[in-house]
Order: sequence, then structure tokens, then C-alpha cells
Amino acid sequence: MSDFLTHSKRTHYCGDVNASHTGEEVVLMGWAHRRRDHGGVVFIDLRDREGIVQVVFNPDVNAACHNEAGRIRSEFVLAVHGRVRRRPEGMENPDLKTGEIEVLADDLEILNEAKTPPFVLDGTTEISENVRLKYRYIDLRRPEIQRNLILRSRVAAATRDYFQREGFIEIETPFLTKSTPEGARDYLVPSRVNQGMFYALPQSPQIFKQLLMVSGFDRYFQIVKCFRDEDLRADRQPEFTQIDVEMSFITEEDIIRTMEGMIAHLFRSCLDRELPLPFPRISYREAISRFGKDNPDIRFGLELRDLTDILKESGFRLFSEIAAAGGVIGAIKVGDGKGLSRKDLDELKDFVAQYGAGGLAWARVNPDGWTSPIFKFLTPAEVAAVNHRMEAREGAVILFVADSPAVTRDALGNLRIHLAKKMGLIDPEALAFTWVTEFPLFEYSETEKRFVSTHHPFTSPVLEEVPLIATDPGKVHARAYDLVLNGSEIGGGSIRIHRKEVQSLIFKALGLSEEEAQRKFGFLLDALEYGTPPHGGIAFGLDRMIMLMAGAESIRDVIAFPKTQKAACLLTDAPSRVSVEQLMELSLKVVT
Ligand code: AMO
Ligand code: AMP
Repeated sequence: MSDFLTHSKRTHYCGDVNASHTGEEVVLMGWAHRRRDHGGVVFIDLRDREGIVQVVFNPDVNAACHNEAGRIRSEFVLAVHGRVRRRPEGMENPDLKTGEIEVLADDLEILNEAKTPPFVLDGTTEISENVRLKYRYIDLRRPEIQRNLILRSRVAAATRDYFQREGFIEIETPFLTKSTPEGARDYLVPSRVNQGMFYALPQSPQIFKQLLMVSGFDRYFQIVKCFRDEDLRADRQPEFTQIDVEMSFITEEDIIRTMEGMIAHLFRSCLDRELPLPFPRISYREAISRFGKDNPDIRFGLELRDLTDILKESGFRLFSEIAAAGGVIGAIKVGDGKGLSRKDLDELKDFVAQYGAGGLAWARVNPDGWTSPIFKFLTPAEVAAVNHRMEAREGAVILFVADSPAVTRDALGNLRIHLAKKMGLIDPEALAFTWVTEFPLFEYSETEKRFVSTHHPFTSPVLEEVPLIATDPGKVHARAYDLVLNGSEIGGGSIRIHRKEVQSLIFKALGLSEEEAQRKFGFLLDALEYGTPPHGGIAFGLDRMIMLMAGAESIRDVIAFPKTQKAACLLTDAPSRVSVEQLMELSLKVVT
């Protein structure tokens, strides 16, 4: 047996060996995926990042080597020398890229042994995610995850290509900085040299990229980590990556066009998919009324309709009372409702209850009326008007929710997605992009009892509406746009405020006193007075984009070392306690 690493170099990745190499000598290195012993012959599935190849150890070829192969266990690290041959007829494996061939080994070195792994990597066994995350370095050997991370690397490279070509400059912005508000809590970092003081990790490079426009860089981009201490969901992480962009002397149209070009380039070069451009656009108001959400999934119908005007005086007391109290009656229609049993309808009622809806009324449309618990309360004219509004024909099922506007659209917006999944209405290949535009500049926060920015406070209002900021802030529109793919917000941006007066007005509308605005954002307000060009930009969630491009279930499957829903890293055990000495150095004391 030879000392492989000094005497020979790897010739191929396991997954790249194919029938065109038949008869050639190869040197492979990788992990023992599986070992099988058959009639004195040992078969090893050897795996590396490119795939798996079958290696055969025959005692007639090299007895010592065959003996050594008998010691191999799962995940041992091996170097193999051998010759590629076609598999005997009938033994091909069409499921494997290398399934036509195998490598007849004549030399082997076990480069390292491995303990029995905590889980098998066969891709079929369900493994608890906590175990996977604790042994992430083993989990990352799984081909699906390797594929995702390789795609991620290619997308990052293609992004840089595109921006270089379009004349953008990549500039790094600091992580140890001052709060950059994007609606989440900040992660704080205590300063040792300035005792009692804290940096904030950036929620985004928003202010810095605007300052770069003030400096004249004109077209900036960065692939950058952002940090947000917020409640985590399946498509959120406390640290995540943005493709961050800013441009000067432009309008919304320039940004939208440049970004459509980028997305089309990424999908073409990394997934071989041609996207029809331009992407459709929908206003915020229309998205909410038709889909119940500002991130509409337009791959399927089941659109929401408002029936309040038809049913507000109906004999169904619940509806008329809710309408009288300022609520709405909304509905969606399942065109072919035969598949929906009474039991299904009961389950749907439980589903909408999660969103606060008090109930779910239903109607099955027949030639002569409805089968429905509420049919007897309605007049024939009301039934006819509902059928007409819903475009409901025989066999359809109409599902009604009556509640406050917010609960109704939330319940129906989510019910729509739930039903589409349940009934198989979603084409898994579809890529439905849409821009959402004309957002309100502010939203009223019931918890804070004041207006808050829908996006961030640097977003420009529609100019003609500036006078409304002081009088009726809820009516002002933002020059903002989000890009949604298959119901997921993958990016968002806006034209920015480039005049100090307008920026001050916005801070005031947000309830910031002049002193507070000066303390938090004085440097930005100052900069706006030194020749700020009109500018705007956007940022994409790279992790979310990769998740959708890879068809992954969770954002964690496209991040090498992700955190759990409790923002913990199970591999390193972060966050963790620190020593008293470390705290003393920072003049900190833990009080709980
Ligand atoms: P925004 O806050 O919309 O905009 O963020 C841009 C995109 O980043 C992604 N994203 C996230 N991805 C994973 N985990 C998270 N916790 C998370 N939060 C956001 C989303 C989102 O669309 N500075 C502005 C952009 C601008 O105005 O130019 C900003 O950060 O896909
Ligand atoms: P009830 O008279 O309470 O039996 O309700 C009649 C039907 O109306 C049932 O199918 C209920 O699920 C439904 N329902 C109750 N509350 C609501 C609501 N807020 N919105 C829509 N349907 C409701």
C-alpha cells in the first residue's frame, strides 16, 4: 500500500467518473458512503462533493488491499487507485450519475477512520434537525445540502459578474456601527475601550450605502451580512445575507429594470431558466384586496372577494352585525369543490381560527340554490349576487369569513395558500415574480400608538403627497417596491429622501424629537446638506432567493451554519455565558 498523498494526486472527483473514462486509471479520494460484501468481493460506494462511485475490491487483483477494504466502515476517509470499467450487463444503476461504470481498485489507503456517525447519510431516513445541526459538519456531507451551497456560491459569483458588467462598485461597510433601523431589534456589542458604550450590528447597510451616494460612487453593490434580533420563522435568520444595491440619478424604473436584468441573469446562468421580462406589477392595495397579503403568491387563483356590500344587511345576523361594526365579509371560491368533504370544511374552520377568525361559513353551489348552513338566512337576490361576484358555477364551494378587515384578509389570504397546497393547485416548476408597488409610507402601530415606517424612515414619499405627512400620514404613499417570488418577499427597496427638510419631516411624523433625530441620525442629516444626489436602491435576501432557487424547504438548508428558531448555534453552543473577567473588562454585569 502506498503513501498516496506524496506519490499521486487525485485525478477525478468521484461523481465525475463516467463511461468515457472506461479503461483509464484513476485516483479518487473521498468518504466511504456504504460498504457491501458479496461473495468475497468488497463494494465501497465512495463519495465526494460531486457524487458517488462504486469501487470494487477483488482479492484476485490485490489481496492485501482487499483485506484492508474489509476494515472500512461508514465515513472512513479513503484514497483509491484503480481502473474504470463498465459494470456487467444488468448491474447498471440508472439512479446514479456514475451508474454505468465502477472502479476496480488495485490500491487503497485508509487516510483516516471515523466513529460511527450519529445518523446515516442515505437521504431517506428522517433525522431530527437538532441532531443534524449539532453535527452540522456531517450533515453538510449530504448531497442535497452540498448542492444548495454550491448553487449559492455560483449565484454569488454570477451576481458579482453582473454588477461588474453594469458598472457597479463593490464596497464594504462596517459591522461595528450605530443602529440602522429596519424594524427589528439591534444586536449590541459592548465596547471595551469606551466603557459603557455599545456598537450595534447593522440591520442593513442602508445609511452607509446612502452616504456612498453622497460621496459620488454612483452605483454600489455588496453581498453582505445583516443582523436582526427578531422573532424567527422558517424563512428568517438572525444573521442573513443581502445583495445590497444603491444607484444615483435614477428613478424607480431604472432600478426595476436593472434588477430584473440581474434576476434574469442569475436564473439563466445558474439554473438554465429563461425568465420573461418585464415582471408583472401590482399595487399594494390590489395585492391586499385580491390576495390578502403584500407578498402575493400569484401561481394560482382562489382570489379574495369582498362581499360586504351584498351581505351587510342580510338576515344572517352575524354578518350584518360584523358589517355594522366596521368589519368586512370576504370570501374565496373553490371552482370544483367536490373533493371538499364536511370533515375538510370543519378542518378549514380550525385553520382560519389560527388567524383569529371566529368561524368559516361555506356554501356548496347547486343548480337551485346552495347547500349551506347560512342559505336559509339569505334572500334569493343575495344568493344570486354572491354567485355572480364569486363567478361561482354549479359544484363550486364558497368559503366566507366575516371579521375585522385585518383578520378577514389574514385568514382568507392564508386559507387560499393552504387550500392551493392541499388541492395540488401549485405548479412546482412555476416561477411567479411580481413587483409590489405603491406601499403606504407609514403604518399605524397599535402597540406603539404611533405611525411607524412601512419600510424604513429614509424612504421617499410620493412628492405630491408630502403636504399630507403633517395632516394625514396614513394616506401618504412611498416610492417603494418589493419583489415577490412565489409568495415570498425576496427583495425590497425605494427611492430615498435626498433633502434634509423632507427627512426631518419624516422623523417628526415618526414621533422623533429634533434632539433625538439629531442624536441618532445627525450624521445623515448633516450629509444631506453637502450635495446629496437623488438616489435609490434595493436589497435582496440572498438566503431566501437560494432557498427558492434550490427548492429547499427551509432557509437553514441553504446556510452552512444556521441558527435555530431560538437563535442558537447547536454546533458551537452559541450564545453562551462568558467569564466574569471578560464581563469586568467590559464593565458589564449580568443582572438576571
Ligand atoms: P428589507 O428589510 O426589506 O430591506 O430586507 C431586504 C430583504 O432581505 C431579506 N430579509 C431576510 N432574510 C432572512 N432573514 C431575515 N431575518 C431577513 N430579513 C430580511 C428579505 C427582504 O426582502 N435596507 C433595505 C433595502 C433597501 O431599502 O434598499 C432593507 O434591508 O428577502
Ligand atoms: P352558527 O350560526 O354559529 O352555527 O354559524 C353558522 C355558520 O357561520 C357556521 O358555518 C360558522 O362556522 C360560520 N361562522 C361563524 N362565525 C363566522 C365568521 N366570523 N365568519 C364567517 N363565518 C362564520
